Amino acid sequence: MYLWAIPMVCAAAVAGCSDDDEDLAAGAAGTSSGGSTSGGSAGASAGAAGKATAGTGGSVAGAGGKAAGAGGTAAGAGGAAAGAGGSSAGAGGSSAGAGGSSAGAGGSSAGAAGAAGGGGASPQVARGEYLVKAVLACGDCHTPRDKTGAPDMSKWLSGVPCFIDADPTKAGFGCLSTRNLTNHATGLSTRTDQQVKDMMLNGVRPDGKALSAVMPYYQFHNMKPEDADAIVAYLRTVPGVDNTLPAHEPPWDNIPAPAPSIAPSTLPTPPSTYADVPAATRGRYLAAEAGACLECHTKHNAPGAGPEIDVSKAFQGGVSYQLGLPSPPFPATIYSANLTPHATGLAGWTVADVVKALKEGKDKTGGNICPPMPAGKAGFAGLTEGDATDIAHYILSLAPADNAVPNGCVAP
Ligand code: HEC
Ligand code: HEC
Repeated sequence: MYLWAIPMVCAAAVAGCSDDDEDLAAGAAGTSSGGSTSGGSAGASAGAAGKATAGTGGSVAGAGGKAAGAGGTAAGAGGAAAGAGGSSAGAGGSSAGAGGSSAGAGGSSAGAAGAAGGGGASPQVARGEYLVKAVLACGDCHTPRDKTGAPDMSKWLSGVPCFIDADPTKAGFGCLSTRNLTNHATGLSTRTDQQVKDMMLNGVRPDGKALSAVMPYYQFHNMKPEDADAIVAYLRTVPGVDNTLPAHEPPWDNIPAPAPSIAPSTLPTPPSTYADVPAATRGRYLAAEAGACLECHTKHNAPGAGPEIDVSKAFQGGVSYQLGLPSPPFPATIYSANLTPHATGLAGWTVADVVKALKEGKDKTGGNICPPMPAGKAGFAGLTEGDATDIAHYILSLAPADNAVPNGCVAP
């Protein structure tokens, strides 16, 4: 079960969850998901339970993405973040380079990034911004939303209080917040690059404790080192927001150990018979190694049972989300689709169909794809044509898997 008891209303609040939210989350708590995950281990055992992202509208999207003038709060690396100058993204994608992984290792640290000043972001910062906004959907979970579900860009990446509430009926129990990633002392400005990477890639805090696997570090672990460096460089340019998040409540306050990272060799590989193996292989990196598709479209294991997701069912969908969106028009539970080319999945879809789904948020029949899929303006609109095409090739190269997912969500 996957409850993204998405505190959309809650997200707008400064601290704690609103009543509305609690109702939503309550509904979510006990419901087990159709064919999907952990047999309904109820709310309390939360463990892996949640995931919040969600929200109607344009989550990650670029909206004014002003990576600009972070006025300071430099990080350790001497004068770092400063000016950055140019509002790097704009419409959510900007940056560039298909495969082209960012700059050389050299510029890894903040200082270099921020120093770009004046004339727009460095290639490394641009790469990091592209990954954060268009590929990995960090903002989906780390940015508060307003009441319409749209991200509050004045609080971009500053963390969501009570992102998940595992049991809204119990006070002092169940809330897991995301964290402030901005360049402020209440965010990451006092952390070294290595500390940020240890949290993001390995689920280990500076004090040695583990992060909850709601944060998909077990998957981010497989991104290229230069991409991780680019993300950190970009984070150093994000304007600081003074936002102290509440402490995690049980059962999130004492995670015994980080979820093990996924062994890349266990991720599906395009068969040699596939029409465009090089494209599908590049897509594998974006969709499965670094990327976000795997996490949402793969069954999660029961809490505490080792790996967070069941890679033997990669991309077969069926993860359930209760977002608390108005129902109707939305069903109370939305299931991620089977992305393999089987009749119960994407059989008959072309590369162009998948690209359209990603960039425009429209399925093969023209219907609007529902949240929490960060399609279209919610994030993937910012993918370069090349990356979207590579991802499509990878998805279509997968072995067909028979997994009927209860569906029928069409967004208004
Ligand atoms: C599915 C939701 C989700 C997504 C997507 C996500 N995060 Fe997180 N992240 C979380 C949660 C929840 C926590 C808090 C975990 C905890 O403290 O146990 C967290 C914590 C973190 C932390 C630790 C910060 C601290 O000071 O404790 C970092 C760093 C981080 N995330 C970076 C990122 C980056 C960078 C991305 C995108 C590449 C990202 N996250 C995507 C949910 C998410
Ligand atoms: C935050 C979770 C999330 C992420 C990340 C995500 N998806 Fe989805 N996706 C969903 C959900 C939920 C649905 C079902 C929505 C609906 O029923 O309208 C879906 C639907 C789809 C569909 C439409 C299938 C159909 O039959 O209409 C496609 C195609 C798709 N996703 C591909 C991808 C790809 C490729 C990626 C990575 C680039 C990705 N998704 C990332 C949650 C996600």
